[in-house]
Amino acid sequence: MIRFHGASERFEVVADFVYQRFANSIKYIADVAGGQGMLTRILNKKYNYEAEVVDPRGWTLKGVPNRPEEFSPKIADYYDLIVGLHPDEATRAVVESALIKPVLIIPCCNFWDKSQKLGREAMLSEFIKYFDEHNVKWEKIVFDFKSSKNVGLVSFPKGVK
Ligand SMILES: C[S@@+](CC[C@H](N)C(=O)[O-])C[C@H]1O[C@@H](n2cnc3c(N)ncnc32)[C@H](O)[C@@H]1O
Repeated sequence: MIRFHGASERFEVVADFVYQRFANSIKYIADVAGGQGMLTRILNKKYNYEAEVVDPRGWTLKGVPNRPEEFSPKIADYYDLIVGLHPDEATRAVVESALIKPVLIIPCCNFWDKSQKLGREAMLSEFIKYFDEHNVKWEKIVFDFKSSKNVGLVSFPKGVK
């Protein structure tokens, strides 16, 4: 049995969203801070994408493609979509990748700005401010899984979509 923290249906729900939203318009997906890689596994097996986990911890489930390194916007260009599902320390790098590629960010705790106490909504507002300042189009998404951390933003850089 594989154990996950929090609502385990989040992987299915997020993978379904990716497929509903992007369908065959994308192929390569970075599952940033993907941990064991359940999201990547579903994206690849159920939806035929070429997703991989980018996570320095490097302990993905058997058969899940993994890039065991810290994520940086410098490698964002390689992918068609950057997904950060509760990406912790990689939060800023995921949000900054929105200037380059489409991003789906569903934040967990405040890894955006340690100098402020930011709850979920305040943190999302900070992301939105950053996107607006950089001409990134965004949309707020409430995902149907049981967690207080089920709200995210999908974004497109200027000139995309
Ligand atoms: C809360 S876990 C989230 C795992 C998974 N996304 C989920 O929803 O279950 C956070 C993960 O962030 C990874 N991480 C920490 N710093 C990172 C970085 N700079 N780049 C990529 N992943 C990082 C950790 O190794 C850990 O696996």
